[in-house]
Amino acid sequence: MIHVHVHPDKATAVKSVAASIAKLIRERAAKGQRTVLGLATGSTPIPLYAELVRLHREDGLSFRTVTTFNLDEYSGLGPDHDQSYRYFMQQQLFNHVDVTPSETHVPNGLAKDVVAECAAYEAAIKKAGGIDLQVLGIGRTGHIGFNEPPAGPSTRTRQVHLDEVTRRDNASFFGDVAKVPHHAVTMGVGTILDCRRVVLLAWGEGKAEIVQRSVEVAPADSCPASWLQQHTACDFILDTAAAAKLSKTH
Ligand code: GLP
Repeated sequence: MIHVHVHPDKATAVKSVAASIAKLIRERAAKGQRTVLGLATGSTPIPLYAELVRLHREDGLSFRTVTTFNLDEYSGLGPDHDQSYRYFMQQQLFNHVDVTPSETHVPNGLAKDVVAECAAYEAAIKKAGGIDLQVLGIGRTGHIGFNEPPAGPSTRTRQVHLDEVTRRDNASFFGDVAKVPHHAVTMGVGTILDCRRVVLLAWGEGKAEIVQRSVEVAPADSCPASWLQQHTACDFILDTAAAAKLSKTH
């Protein structure tokens, strides 16, 4: 079941998400428990990370009890490549908060044995106790992480081939579509469905159609995000433009 929350703009939306992440971290820390966050990249979560950094600086939010697992990484890009998702996370969040570096996990895009890397990633998530809260964006193909259609609940962390729509959508970051990798390593739809809470963010009219399909059309591998309807605690956090094509309030 997806609960939809519509905010007037993304600035207001990310404040509410950051506040609920801060509450989760603080409540668990007070009980001596770590918090395992699943994190996403892309342009969508950038203001969320800025707000979490602000809460760290101005409100004393500590990430010392936080373990993180990112959804995905481009194959072939190392941590020093400015388009790698490891680099993105360092710039947007990790370098600015007190998280323990060894507690941050991003799939290794340079792994020689990709199958072993994917199995180790799944094992590390399990060893950490599973993901308490997973942040997601959504691609215009309906992908979550880099689970391009078709992808369903049986998929786990693995290497995938990127859709041309996705490569074109990300071309501006690379300066040229030819420089966008053709493959990535991503948590599977099944890995994401195992997270205890899922929070998907979407802004702008460009996401309105895929948001509507994900929420209102029966789950199908042709729209991987639609499988989130089967999750028991999934929130879609939208601005008014991204919610514009929904036929009713959810
Ligand atoms: C990227 C990422 C996804 C992200 C999506 C949307 O390719 N792999 O995790 O949600 O595409 O990107 P954006 O937030 O820039 O629209």
